[in-house]
Amino acid sequence: MSAGTPAARAAELRELLNRYAHAYYVLDAPLVSDAEYDRLYQELEALEQRHPELRTPDSPTQRVGGRALDRFEPVRHAVPMLSIRTETDIGDAGASNFDTKVRKELGLDATAPAVEYLAELKFDGLAISLRYENGLLVRAATRGDGEVGEDVTQNVRTIGQIPLRLSGKAPVLLEVRGEVYMRRDDFDSLNARQTEAGEKTFVNPRNAAAGAVRQLDPNMTRKRPLSFFAYSIGETSGWTLPARQSELLEALEKFGFPVSSERTVARGAEELVAFHQRIGELRNRLPFDIDGVVYKVDLVEQQQKLGWVTREPRWAVAHKYAPQEEITRLLNIEIQVGRTGALTPVAKLQPVFVGGATVTNASLHNEDMIRRKGVKIGDWVVVRRAGDVIPEVVTAVVDRRDGKETDFVMPETCPVCGSHAMRAEDEAITRCTGGLFCGAQRKQALLHFASRRAMDIEGLGDKLVEQLVDGGIVKTPADLYKLGLLSLATLDRMAEKSAANVLQGIEQSKNTTLPRFIYALGIRNVGETTAKELARHFGKLDNLVTAKEAALLQVQDVGPIVANSIAAFFAEPHNVEVVEQLRAAGVHWTETEPAEQAAVLPFTGKTFVLTGTLPSLSRDEATAMIEAVGGKVSGSVSKKTHYVVAGAEAGSKLDKAQQLGVTVLDEEGLRALLARGPEQE
Ligand code: IVH
Repeated sequence: MSAGTPAARAAELRELLNRYAHAYYVLDAPLVSDAEYDRLYQELEALEQRHPELRTPDSPTQRVGGRALDRFEPVRHAVPMLSIRTETDIGDAGASNFDTKVRKELGLDATAPAVEYLAELKFDGLAISLRYENGLLVRAATRGDGEVGEDVTQNVRTIGQIPLRLSGKAPVLLEVRGEVYMRRDDFDSLNARQTEAGEKTFVNPRNAAAGAVRQLDPNMTRKRPLSFFAYSIGETSGWTLPARQSELLEALEKFGFPVSSERTVARGAEELVAFHQRIGELRNRLPFDIDGVVYKVDLVEQQQKLGWVTREPRWAVAHKYAPQEEITRLLNIEIQVGRTGALTPVAKLQPVFVGGATVTNASLHNEDMIRRKGVKIGDWVVVRRAGDVIPEVVTAVVDRRDGKETDFVMPETCPVCGSHAMRAEDEAITRCTGGLFCGAQRKQALLHFASRRAMDIEGLGDKLVEQLVDGGIVKTPADLYKLGLLSLATLDRMAEKSAANVLQGIEQSKNTTLPRFIYALGIRNVGETTAKELARHFGKLDNLVTAKEAALLQVQDVGPIVANSIAAFFAEPHNVEVVEQLRAAGVHWTETEPAEQAAVLPFTGKTFVLTGTLPSLSRDEATAMIEAVGGKVSGSVSKKTHYVVAGAEAGSKLDKAQQLGVTVLDEEGLRALLARGPEQE
């Protein structure tokens, strides 16, 4: 193969791409940008298209799935895939029981030195055997019954962490064994995608990983984010075997496999206990599930001496942790009202110890989720608590039903305030329409009402609001304006002191503007920008209060969802009453004539995004300048963004703008643009 030929270039590209993939997937330290990788990949793809004979099995283009299978071919394991005995004692005795047995079987007396063990993680995925001939991945198989597994080569090829070719000097034959698993973050985003697509979610990462590996269509597997850890070998020839398990793991790492760094050589039972404890504390923070740790006698010579009993080696043991999944009774489903009025169904469980804590409540998210999981009140359910995440009801144990279970029904009114509960057509969440009137939302609504960009009441913080609401002194924002020093007497001293200062702030806030007032009401989906548009469009508050949805849709940027939430807000008599009380208390602003026809300003319809710190303009100043000429300032960059104004420390918004080819300006550029007017399209 001479330099400069297509064959030489293809070999070079394969080598580069495989090296880059290893750095990216295994070492988590990319050597080149995604764009550079894609460019080389496309070059190789084109080259292989022109010269199909250059398409080798270790080409990264061969990772993409082939055709779907009817069934998996059986694979007989030359060396059976064993399982590990589980030490039943969850406590420290687990390690010393094992050490005692090993010492006895090795014929070591009390004076003999400590046995060396390799302590590693017990990954919660599925075991896979990977066969490499002369360094090339030729077959991947599941464990099956330990004797015969299934050929899942096509699927396993799609896993980026598994090398298609071994690095360094490869043995004639090497069968690597390890665990295919799914990281928790990958599992969560996979389930989020499933939910979005209206499909069934997976119960846990292990099931998701196992299901993915056993997909008949490799293109499905490719869409499931899988990972891999190597931990042992099967059949092998043509190299000098390492003398220790710890050295074997190092060798596997050199061949290009991911090997967990959470491993240690432990001397004697005491060090095993220490490892078990350390990993136990770390467990929740690991990015993947484990169900225990594994101790293996480190010296291969001693392993051979110990041998096997009934498919389980005497030189290895699994020491488990308390399970992260348990089965318990779903006693009831109650509704919790969140600060945005979201009605969240919460599972009331028969207390169960899972993932290191007693769980009595678990979120069920929303109505659809309950239906998708198929749980009924009274069911036996699987409860999962992995990592520091909130406990979750995963699924119902349908086989244990006795017919007394009942379906959950979302209430039509808010359980806290009795207002109508509403679920927008394409939304999963049911919300209380009570707004300012609803007790659960009151505190949050008050804080929003008082916030700087709303009524700007200085000093009205969490603590005070908490006291005012819990003491029944303040129910609605209107009550704030009725506060006198007398009513503050019931507060504790700290709150009393700040309340005295706050009275002045409340007085000052009476003089406000219509956009601020509308924003302060905390109508769902009405942010500052929409509030400004509404004020400009309607001019007078009464016009807004009485506006029908059709009229609201006339306002710039108000779509059906926003129009609906505004109309729903003012349809609640409580809300209108609060507005009246506020006006009666002296809250005032200057009203204008409605903008019959929106004055056509030069930048009407243009969207700007601000990012980073501008040299002389504050965010608010820049926003005001843009709005004065009809432009709109939005929070995120999309294809619809016209200009991104970037200052110092601009972050991902700038990257996104560059990706999308959006015009990027600095402060000077912005001033020039606003002075000269938009470019004509
Ligand atoms: S070694 C000779 N090491 O546990 C023992 N297995 O019950 C062969 N597993 O099927 C397995 N983590 O799926 C070994 N660090 C680890 C492991 C591990 C998880 C799984 C594997 C195996 C099962 C054995």
